[in-house]
Amino acid sequence: MNDFNFVDEELELLSKSGLKRELKTVITAGGPWVELSSGKRILQFSSNNYLGLANHPEVINATKSAVSKYGAGSTGSRLLSGTTELHVLLEKALAKFENTESAVFFSSGYATNVGVLSALIDKEDAVFSDELNHASIIDGIKLSGATKFIYNHNDTSHLESLIKENKDNFKRSFIVTDTVFSMDGDIANLEQIGLIAEKYNCITIVDEAHATGVFGKKGAGVVEELNLGQLFPIKIGTCSKAFGIECGFCAAPNNVSELIRNKARSFMFSTSPSPAIAGAILKSLDLIIDGGWRRDRLWQNTKLLHSGLKKNLKLKLNDLKTPIILVYFNSIEEAMSIGEKLFEECHIWAPAIRPPTVKQPRIRLTPIATHSKEDVEYVIRAFDHLSKDIKPQPLGSIAY
Ligand SMILES: Cc1ncc(COP(=O)(O)O)c(C=O)c1O
Repeated sequence: MNDFNFVDEELELLSKSGLKRELKTVITAGGPWVELSSGKRILQFSSNNYLGLANHPEVINATKSAVSKYGAGSTGSRLLSGTTELHVLLEKALAKFENTESAVFFSSGYATNVGVLSALIDKEDAVFSDELNHASIIDGIKLSGATKFIYNHNDTSHLESLIKENKDNFKRSFIVTDTVFSMDGDIANLEQIGLIAEKYNCITIVDEAHATGVFGKKGAGVVEELNLGQLFPIKIGTCSKAFGIECGFCAAPNNVSELIRNKARSFMFSTSPSPAIAGAILKSLDLIIDGGWRRDRLWQNTKLLHSGLKKNLKLKLNDLKTPIILVYFNSIEEAMSIGEKLFEECHIWAPAIRPPTVKQPRIRLTPIATHSKEDVEYVIRAFDHLSKDIKPQPLGSIAY
C-alpha cells in the first residue's frame, strides 16, 4: 500500500515555513464571545459576522420554522427536486434588495463565483482582474478558459492600459473585481472602473461579499452606496458574511440569470441549500434592510478600534475604509507570535494572516456590531501590552 510519503513531505514543508494551519473548534453560537472545545472563552475578532446576525433569535426561529415545515434537506439539485417555495421567495427578495430583475441562489459564495464566471465567460474572451481578487474569482476565471490580464491592485490606469492593448484580440472583455477586498480592507475604485467599462464596452462583474450588509442605506453594498447600479448590472453576493449564515447569490438581468441557471455547473450539479437555510437568510435579509442602526454600531466599534490602535505608534495600520482593520508586521514570525499571544494570553481571537494568502504578514481584526465598547477597549489595551515585543522597524510601503 502507498504510504503517502509525499503527503508527509509536503506537510513538513508547510510546518517548516510556518504556513501549516490548524483548526480550532467552537462549541457555542457565533457571537462576540465564543467558547472553544478546550474550554477557553474567547473574544471573537476574526469572524465575518459583521452585524451579529449569526445568532440572532429571529434568524434562529426562522430556521426552526422552516425545518418544521420543509424538513432538514432540500432533497436534490435546484433543477430537480431542490427548489422549494422558500428558494423562490428568497431569490425574489434578493433581486429586490439588489435592485436587479432577478437573482440566482447558490450553495456558497465560492460556488457562485466559480459557477457564474465559468457560465458567462469563455475561452475566446478576455478577463481583466484585480490582482487581489478573491480565490473564488481566480478559480472561476480559470475554469472559464478565458485569457486573464491581472491589473495592479486598484490601479485603474493599469487596467485601462491593459484593456487598450489587448481588448481587440478577443470576442468580449470582462472586468471582474471584489468591491471590498477582504484581506486588505480597502474598496475598489468603482466609479473609475465603471467609466472604463463603458468607454471600452467591457462587461463588469463585481463581488460584494464583504460589502453586503455593511455599505449602502439598505445594506446592498458599495454599488448601492455609490449609486452605480447602471454600471454594475451583475453582482455577486454571499450570505456567509453580514447575513451571518452561508450560501451565495448572483443578482443580474433576467436573461443573464436564465443562462446561469442553464450553464453554471456549481448550480446544476450540486444539491440545493436546505430550505431551512433559505428561510434563515430571508429573515436575515429583513434584519439587514431594517438594520441601519446595526451598521451604525458596527462603524462605531470599527472607528473606536482603529483610532485606539492608531495611538500606539509601534503599530502600522491600514487606512480606515471598511470594518476590516489590519495591523502589519515585518515577518511571519512576528505576526504569528503576536497572534498567538493575543489568543493564549489575552483570549482574543484575531489570527495572523500570512503568505500565500497575503504578501505582508498581518493581524486582521473584524469588529461585530454586537461587541461592547469594553470589548473593543480591551483589544486596544491588549495590543498596548503586547506591542512591547514588536520591533519598531520602519515597514516602508505595504506589500499586498
Ligand atoms: C470576496 C469574496 N468572494 C467570495 C467569497 C466566498 O464566499 P463563501 O464563504 O460564502 O463561499 C469570499 C469569502 O471569503 C470572499 O471574501
